[in-house]
Amino acid sequence: MESLLEVRRLRTTFRAGRSRHDAAVQAVRSVDFQLGRGETVGVVGESGSGKSVTALSLVGLLPKTALVEVDKLTLDGASISHLSRRQLRDLRGRRIAMVFQDPMTSLNPLMRVGRQIDEMISAHDRRLTRRERKRRVIGLLAEVRIPEPEKRYNSYPHEFSGGMRQRVMIAMAMALRPEILIADEPTTALDVTIQDQVLRLMRRLQGESGTSILLITHDLAVVAGMCSRVIVMYGGLIMEEAPTTSLFAQPMHPYTIGLLGSLPALRQGQSDRLDSIPGAPPDMTAPGDGCPFAPRCKYARVRCERALAPYYAVADGHRSRCWLLDAAAPGADSPFGEADGELRRKVVPLDD
Ligand SMILES: Nc1ncnc2c1ncn2[C@@H]1O[C@H](COP(=O)(O)OP(=O)(O)OP(=O)(O)O)[C@@H](O)[C@H]1O
Ligand code: SF4
Ligand SMILES: [Mg+2]
Repeated sequence: MESLLEVRRLRTTFRAGRSRHDAAVQAVRSVDFQLGRGETVGVVGESGSGKSVTALSLVGLLPKTALVEVDKLTLDGASISHLSRRQLRDLRGRRIAMVFQDPMTSLNPLMRVGRQIDEMISAHDRRLTRRERKRRVIGLLAEVRIPEPEKRYNSYPHEFSGGMRQRVMIAMAMALRPEILIADEPTTALDVTIQDQVLRLMRRLQGESGTSILLITHDLAVVAGMCSRVIVMYGGLIMEEAPTTSLFAQPMHPYTIGLLGSLPALRQGQSDRLDSIPGAPPDMTAPGDGCPFAPRCKYARVRCERALAPYYAVADGHRSRCWLLDAAAPGADSPFGEADGELRRKVVPLDD
């Protein structure tokens, strides 16, 4: 698949606070991935694993305390890593759009919804007249199934339900037919039936515009229903990446196996959250040299505590960062089941 977005070695650190005891937070330690045209890639991982910071780093939406470094960041082959804040802002509405968990953080509570959409459209397309814009806004509201869109044009955000607000946000994000939509927990705050409507809307608009979606979520059912590929993050690193079906059928990282521990609920069609692994997330101020999952991993060896594993390619498009995949690792208590012996023979370390 043609790569639309390419990210290589993204690192994001938050400067230490005012107290001399505060240490810098290494929120994203080294992240690389690609997003193909029109595809939907899921990003999963526990709270604090660096999902949102990864997304916000890509679009320049972090506070000034953040230091973002990246070896390569290209959109459609052209580097965007050196754009000014202003250029990034322009890119953001037009080519990369973002939707957040809580639409109220993005909507102005004091401004009528119709006018907010209108302003967004006029900021990017100055050729339309006022009347044309109004017609377009009402059309957009209708398209995302907001009842009585002419009337709703004049409503304030608090007069909308949570699901309606999120549909409006998605409509705004997709209005300019962006090449990429980054959706950070877009349905987490909504109840299940409304979630479904919002996801269906995203899929429909994606079908119409060919937009690529980077979907950050805690919800494995959402991943299963929406994503062709999944990135699993832990401690500011990608631990495993695989086509969705492979990840569910043959997870090749102990952390992923832990996350999928709640799979039976998923099979019953219920939504489930990634919070089932005992132990605490790593301290991002002092990540150390080893595997960040080692303190919680029952397969951890001395080697795991000393050094971070490289990526091993376990199948086409499937990589995992775990020492158990090393050809020299003893396979006796491996969590990878019957496939283990065969897979480990095929493993090839990738460049890190
Ligand atoms: N503005 C900030 N200043 C300092 N540290 C931050 C800031 N934003 C995030 N962090 C830290 O960066 C790390 C990664 O946070 P991030 O928000 O990316 O996690 P996440 O994976 O999105 O979690 P969640 O699932 O809870 O949304 C965390 O340790 C967090 O405390
Ligand atoms: S590298 Fe070691 S500690 Fe990390 S997940 Fe693999 S076995 Fe566990
Ligand atoms: Mg987040």
